[in-house]
Amino acid sequence: MKQLDPVHSIRNAFHREFWRHWCVALPNWIDLDVAMPLPTIIAVGGGKGGVGKSVISANLAGKMARNSKVLAVDLDIGGANLHTYFGIKTPKLTSSDLLLGSRVDFHDISVPSGIPNLDIVCAGQDFGLDRLNSRAAGLNQIWAGILEAKTKFGYDYVVLDLGAGTASHTIDFFLGAHVGIMSVLPEPTSIENAYSFLRALLWRMIHNVGARMGEESLAHSFAERIFNGEGHGGYSQALLKLKEESPRLVNGVLAGLSGRRLGFVANQIRGQSDIEIAQSMASISKDFFGFNTLSLGYLNYDDSAWKALRNRRLLIQDFPHCLFSRRLDEVLIRLQNAVRMS
Ligand SMILES: Nc1ncnc2c1ncn2[C@@H]1O[C@H](COP(=O)(O)OP(=O)(O)O)[C@@H](O)[C@H]1O
Ligand SMILES: [Mg+2]
Repeated sequence: MKQLDPVHSIRNAFHREFWRHWCVALPNWIDLDVAMPLPTIIAVGGGKGGVGKSVISANLAGKMARNSKVLAVDLDIGGANLHTYFGIKTPKLTSSDLLLGSRVDFHDISVPSGIPNLDIVCAGQDFGLDRLNSRAAGLNQIWAGILEAKTKFGYDYVVLDLGAGTASHTIDFFLGAHVGIMSVLPEPTSIENAYSFLRALLWRMIHNVGARMGEESLAHSFAERIFNGEGHGGYSQALLKLKEESPRLVNGVLAGLSGRRLGFVANQIRGQSDIEIAQSMASISKDFFGFNTLSLGYLNYDDSAWKALRNRRLLIQDFPHCLFSRRLDEVLIRLQNAVRMS
């Protein structure tokens, strides 16, 4: 009889646990088949515009495509420009068509990015956010397309390039990732918006967990108490104090916090002191908010970024040895370790 490898079975059990915890914080209208193999989902967010979400998404996806099949999805609805980093024109059909109710399939709108093994789903420029609510039917299709990307089309990784701000659909896509990368610049405005983004993540997570458990109003009152008063010494501590009142709900939120990884990348670094920003944001995220967080490293300010963009070429194609590209290799190693540990 074949001997079971103990390390392998522990790892499998750990994966199953992570997977179960990841699910509890997803919006409750998402139907998940527990047996379905999923792609590894990586979201790039950060709350603020212009912090490098798209340049990181595009180049990270480009690097990952050397060994894996990757789908990059532009979710900056209304402000899309991921395609421009690959030098491709907005295709005729984009996710906006889905969101506007056209009868197209999510995977019919993916196009080759020009990099082998890497396809892209573009978003349109013309979609007013006011027409979108977090339960729009098209959003459901986008979610289904991402979750089925492995089983139907063999993608190993799906990279989600998010828009700025804390709209509920943006926060939900970030929560839908196994690893969420937050890009921060060493500037007060970026730090401020990253902090708001973390607040929005925890707020939304409490509501999503509550909705999955049929405890919407209790979840709402817990969130109000944590964010409006009881949480000034640390939101995670305030959450723990509520455990006596509802162990089930609080344990659900704690599971959600541990079932995904957050990583900070400090972008546009110009000096040694800037580098620490990723580490200090990771500490705040861990200690104050309770997220399972890492510092993924930093990316230098590099003129190659705008030179490549002006040429409408991917930075890692035109300047594979530039400082940005080399630092991104280090981020990728840390990211892959984080995925392995999930
Ligand atoms: N490390 C960097 N060095 C130089 N320019 C950068 C760097 N990161 C981003 N940029 C530039 O900043 C601008 C905004 O980047 P982008 O990725 O589009 O931001 P976001 O998607 O967060 O709105 C782009 O012009 C991009 O080339
Ligand atoms: Mg962008």
